[in-house]
Amino acid sequence: MSKPRDSLSSLMKLTLSLSIFTSLALLLLHIKPAPQQYTNKNFIKFLHQTPQDAHPERPIQRQTDTNISHIVFGIGGTAKNWKYRSRYTEVWWQSNVTRGFAWLDEPLNLTESSTRSFIPVRVSEDTSRFKFTCSYGSRSAVRIARIVLESFKLGMEDVRWFVMGDDDTVFFMENLVDLLSKYDHNQMVYIGGNSESVEQDVIHSYGMAYGGGGFAISYPLAKELVPVLDGCIDRYHYFFGSDERVGACVAEIGVRTIHEPGFHQVDIRGSAYGLLSAHPTTPLVSLHHLDYVEPLIPNKTREDSLRALHRAYKRDPARALQKSVCYDLQRNWSVSVSWGYTVQIHSRLITAKELLTPLQTFRSWRSWSEGPFTFNTREESDDTCEREIRYFVSDVEGDGEGHSTSSVYKRFDEGEREGCGDGAVVPKSVDVAAVKMDPLEWIKFKAPRRHCCEVINEHEEETESSVLQVRIRKCKLGESLTLPPEIS
Ligand SMILES: *[C@@H]1O[C@H](CO)[C@@H](O)[C@H](O)[C@H]1NC(C)=O
Ligand SMILES: *[C@@H]1O[C@H](CO)[C@@H](O)[C@H](O)[C@H]1NC(C)=O
Ligand SMILES: *[C@@H]1O[C@H](CO)[C@@H](O)[C@H](O)[C@H]1NC(C)=O
Ligand SMILES: *[C@@H]1O[C@H](CO)[C@@H](O)[C@H](O)[C@H]1NC(C)=O
Ligand SMILES: *[C@@H]1O[C@H](CO)[C@@H](O)[C@H](O)[C@H]1NC(C)=O
Repeated sequence: MSKPRDSLSSLMKLTLSLSIFTSLALLLLHIKPAPQQYTNKNFIKFLHQTPQDAHPERPIQRQTDTNISHIVFGIGGTAKNWKYRSRYTEVWWQSNVTRGFAWLDEPLNLTESSTRSFIPVRVSEDTSRFKFTCSYGSRSAVRIARIVLESFKLGMEDVRWFVMGDDDTVFFMENLVDLLSKYDHNQMVYIGGNSESVEQDVIHSYGMAYGGGGFAISYPLAKELVPVLDGCIDRYHYFFGSDERVGACVAEIGVRTIHEPGFHQVDIRGSAYGLLSAHPTTPLVSLHHLDYVEPLIPNKTREDSLRALHRAYKRDPARALQKSVCYDLQRNWSVSVSWGYTVQIHSRLITAKELLTPLQTFRSWRSWSEGPFTFNTREESDDTCEREIRYFVSDVEGDGEGHSTSSVYKRFDEGEREGCGDGAVVPKSVDVAAVKMDPLEWIKFKAPRRHCCEVINEHEEETESSVLQVRIRKCKLGESLTLPPEIS
């Protein structure tokens, strides 16, 4: 031992300029010198010994892609509301394919709800022994927080993810599966979304995944969570929500929340139109609170408009609500498509930055105020003439992902536009917008880029055509939404 030490101290005496050779020499000699100033034996042992409980990571096995069968859903609901609320689950649940349960507070009255048995129902364990002291909350938060535990204890085979949702959460299954595939289910992972209303995030937490938008917990995280959950729920008796409790317990374990912008808690009041017509460039994963916002499509019921959106979604899941913007420079129109949902024609040229900012057609969740929200919004004009003309999806044809689709959107006028000045300004006679989507590869999560679009019939006189034809295609090299200099 003394030999290397000696050679070390002599090396130390060399000038700074030679220090690089020092490290090189040490490397070549495989010498591990202990820091001179610490000679305590225990300390040296501590530095160089691997503790017995520091197990090396399990080697990662090659796994098949994540599919719908690897997910177990836990939907929180009540027997009283199930008949009514289950119509949301019914839209996305695939009988005998989707795995999981609706967890209710008491058994269903079967005489009443036999038609709603498409999703298996279970009654949650009794939670009256738990502490609950939140004066403005409901005790059911404790029961619902435990769904992940009760689901885990069922010991189902081949589970990679537990996904929690409310009885009024609508999941967009293909996109959810794709999203989860992006993450390593062999690690502890916790994914979900935030509340749109800042007041909610301030009161509850920015750091958690909101339960109404739904969240996913990987199997290894659930396994870690289950033994500590009950104690943790009891300690956080003063919290409001079930999701807040789960979020706090996950935080104690030390796993961070991954926020994915495709989850939508929809903590807003009024119309979700502005939010959904400016969806971020990422696949739609969930919607929530549809009973609390206006129907997604005017003049349709809540249920019918959700079904219309969901039908379009099924034709091309990843591209539902994805936005494309293009200009008709002959007529000075800005055209914006939120695929499968809405087309907007603005009778002036508007920058992309503005068009991509959600129109504030809504208010905040708790106090019904004008904001703030966790994203920027722009004001909706009070003057009908200044507003864009909105078209809503009526028909989609095509056979899904990567293939071409045609979709048709019908005009909805909120008010009279007769007095809106010169006819040239307002696209009066366009009743229908037709959108042709090229067969396109879209790198959904890894490097998403908006698709480009173009107005096909821009040279026609407006009166000659009542259909605006739009083509969505891959952007060309160097293409961007740049307006002519005299406008911008
Ligand atoms: C999902 O993958 C598993 C293999 O991990 C396979 O056994 C199962 O059949 C697949 N399910 C579906 C619906 O594709
Ligand atoms: C689901 O499976 C059950 C039992 O195998 C069967 O009776 C039922 O018809 C199936 N439902 C659907 C929608 O396939
Ligand atoms: C179940 O529904 C039937 C028919 O609506 C009603 O007569 C009965 O009282 C209900 N039972 C319970 C336990 O709610
Ligand atoms: C479009 O806008 C430009 C610039 O403001 C203007 O010169 C042109 O006349 C407009 N064209 C129509 C058809 O309104
Ligand atoms: C909305 O529905 C009403 C009644 O069905 C109908 O009279 C009206 O024209 C519709 N409005 C639009 C803009 O489609």
